[in-house]
Amino acid sequence: FSRIVRPTSTLACQGARNFSSSKQNNTKVTVVGAAGGIGQPLSMLLKQSDLITELSLYDIVKHTPGVAADISHMNFPAKVKGFTGAEQLRDSLKGSQVVIIPAGLPRKPGMSRDDLFSANASIVRDVAAAVADVAPKALVGIITNPVNSCVPIFCEVMKKAGKLDPNRIFGVSTLDLVRASAFIGEAKGLNPKDVNCPVIGGHSGVSIVPLISQCKPAVQFSKDELTKMTVRIQDAGTEVVKAKAGAGSATLSMGFAGARFAISLLRALNGESNVIECAYVLNDVAGTKYFATPLLLGKNGIEKNLGIGKLSDFEQELVNKAIPELKDNVAKGEQFVK
Ligand code: NAI
Repeated sequence: FSRIVRPTSTLACQGARNFSSSKQNNTKVTVVGAAGGIGQPLSMLLKQSDLITELSLYDIVKHTPGVAADISHMNFPAKVKGFTGAEQLRDSLKGSQVVIIPAGLPRKPGMSRDDLFSANASIVRDVAAAVADVAPKALVGIITNPVNSCVPIFCEVMKKAGKLDPNRIFGVSTLDLVRASAFIGEAKGLNPKDVNCPVIGGHSGVSIVPLISQCKPAVQFSKDELTKMTVRIQDAGTEVVKAKAGAGSATLSMGFAGARFAISLLRALNGESNVIECAYVLNDVAGTKYFATPLLLGKNGIEKNLGIGKLSDFEQELVNKAIPELKDNVAKGEQFVK
């Protein structure tokens, strides 16, 4: 079981193959929203990483110390501490190198991610203000939806505080890559662990753009199959929301995907080379201000934006559809902070 969450090549994105745990530093990771549907499995997976010395679990609900006590009994070295209530948020974040944020309402059937904006925008704004105060150098992964607007909110708050470093703030779109690997592997009879398909754009509906032409190993689909596969990856979150029938959205696969992303950040912080993940970040790759692309990660977050590579005509059309949606989502987030 621990192999699933150990930072080995099974969790790696393209090319990340040189893990060594021997250079481990003191590393504190904070999960904000740790008692939730995503927060709990995510924290449980992170507890198993040798790259973490302190795991700080924060949530507004009263039973957060109980979640921390529960996870602390797992026999791995990371020290686990629970924090609850707005007055403890800063203590939970202080000194963190990595902050992962799955705090906020999830979707119910019939809701779009954008419908969560009014509930979740202020949560992300307040967490950003606290990070700016006490952990401005942390690498931050934002899971809270709508990711396309929440990342601009976070960045704008950091900018206002004079602390913005766009190389350190990431919208976590890893679940889209995990799903692409799972579905393509299943369709082609490949081990899904070995399938690597970049997903660019954003994290909602048409803004999710899988680059199946760049998949490794290479896979062939008819035009009809390609359309169906693309739509399935774009709508996979809704598939789970419908199947859970009102009891929330993806939590277990997202806990896994969030842990993979956090561990990739930690591997890069630990000096490992060639750690690559796709994430939604501030950049001008597609003229939208924020866009997810493959990123080479390093000790200071993004070391190099690897860009979108050569797109097929089909993928270029998808990007063309994604851009207006992304521009709207970004403007909405920025407007909220103004
Ligand atoms: P949940 O409702 O099960 O858990 C959310 C947790 O956040 C709760 O424990 C709640 O107490 C906590 N919370 C609320 N306000 C807070 C605050 N101000 N500070 C700290 N914690 C706070 O929801 P779930 O299923 O864990 O989803 C969390 C978020 O992740 C949702 O917005 C959901 O849409 C999003 N999500 C993102 C995905 C992605 O790919 N980026 C995939 C799936 C969900």
